[in-house]
Amino acid sequence: MTDPALDAEVLRERAVASLLTARDRTALLTGCVDEPDLTAQHSPLMSPLVWDLAHIGNQEEQWLLRAVAGQEAIRPEIDSLYDAFEHPRTERPKLPLLSPDEARRYTADVRGRALDVLENASFHGTRLTEAGFVFGMIAQHEQQHDETMLITHQLRRGPRALTAPDPEPVPPFTGPSEVLVPGGPFTMGTSTEPWALDNERPAHRREVPPFFIDTTPVTNAAYLAFVEDGGYDDPRWWTAEGWAHVRRASLTAPLFWRREGRQWLRRRFGATEVVPPDEPVLHVCWYEADAYARWAGRRLPTEAEWEKAARYDPADDRSRRYPWGDAEPGPEHANLGQRHLRPAPAGSYPAGASPLGVRQLIGDVWEWTASDFLPYPGFRAFPYREYSEVFFGSEYKVLRGGSFAVDPVACRGTFRNWDYPIRRQIFSGFRTARSADA
Ligand code: AVJ
Ligand code: FE
Repeated sequence: MTDPALDAEVLRERAVASLLTARDRTALLTGCVDEPDLTAQHSPLMSPLVWDLAHIGNQEEQWLLRAVAGQEAIRPEIDSLYDAFEHPRTERPKLPLLSPDEARRYTADVRGRALDVLENASFHGTRLTEAGFVFGMIAQHEQQHDETMLITHQLRRGPRALTAPDPEPVPPFTGPSEVLVPGGPFTMGTSTEPWALDNERPAHRREVPPFFIDTTPVTNAAYLAFVEDGGYDDPRWWTAEGWAHVRRASLTAPLFWRREGRQWLRRRFGATEVVPPDEPVLHVCWYEADAYARWAGRRLPTEAEWEKAARYDPADDRSRRYPWGDAEPGPEHANLGQRHLRPAPAGSYPAGASPLGVRQLIGDVWEWTASDFLPYPGFRAFPYREYSEVFFGSEYKVLRGGSFAVDPVACRGTFRNWDYPIRRQIFSGFRTARSADA
């Protein structure tokens, strides 16, 4: 028997904890640099950190205070400044933004009121608050911007502002390099995960022919072989669009890499280090991932293949929440939550493997898939079209699995991310696949 009153208290505690965890991270990311650093634009691809900070508060105000509790706007004049669609990132530094102190006071004020709303919220009756959805959505939104802000930190010049311990070293991975995923239907997406976002819904059956998928993400050492083989100079490996891009943008290696003599170095959060061979490759765009796969005689997995590899349990023909089962992610399962500021070496986290033995599907690096970002059959935008629906189409490619920078609340076996195929400031890597019947 489940006690509904008890369930509500469990949900309430989970919502409070998720909001507090996100805010701790936001405070760290915006507290470790000085004022000029918060208001500066470190890259035309990114907002000033102080924009993310007030935008986090503004979204929370719109959903938890206005939509849920029917409160009046605290500062109606700032809404348009923090509307991501009204002002593209390049414009944001020129806007009359709240100062760092004002932004901190505003987000703290909203948070105080939001916790009061949460204290008295009912988790039944309206779709917005059902099972605490909108509180989970806002915690995920803040964590998504915390990942965005970490990207800004990586792009920022100057001395290191953030530190974290490195992942545990592991012996070189000696298991099989690929895993066979049997053909047949599986359940993709979810209709039951309470905090899943609209684009992950609904659950539906997908037929997936048999395929092989890499046991681990592609490593720096493997990617370097492509670089050293002249992969960036050979149009055979690139799609026409990819080749045009790699020439126009003069790409020669992953972002943040540079060759010095016979060594490859990379810049990571303000420090320069030798590229670690066993770590999953990071900061490659979709075109680079796709070209590498072709060079290796393989291809990127489709989004359905990725999810089947991550969730399908052949023992009971069921889709799990995570590769390791239904339990929430722990430190033994995956590299998540900015606990480390880098991916863990390939072959880490054996406890996080899928039933078929695929490793590191969750955490470490976002994995590019072959697929465009499209709605599932039966998709319905909820609660707003601008989260997913306006992005559907062939302009964006899907990334799966989450990076070291994403919090567990914003990452699951069904979670979908997307970006332009030229983007590589994101914490993106990939693994490759091949059809088994070919
Ligand atoms: C899902 C990561 C593509 O950052 O553009 C944040 C998440 N949406 N605020 C993004 C998001 C609205 C989104 N991504
Ligand atoms: Fe946002």
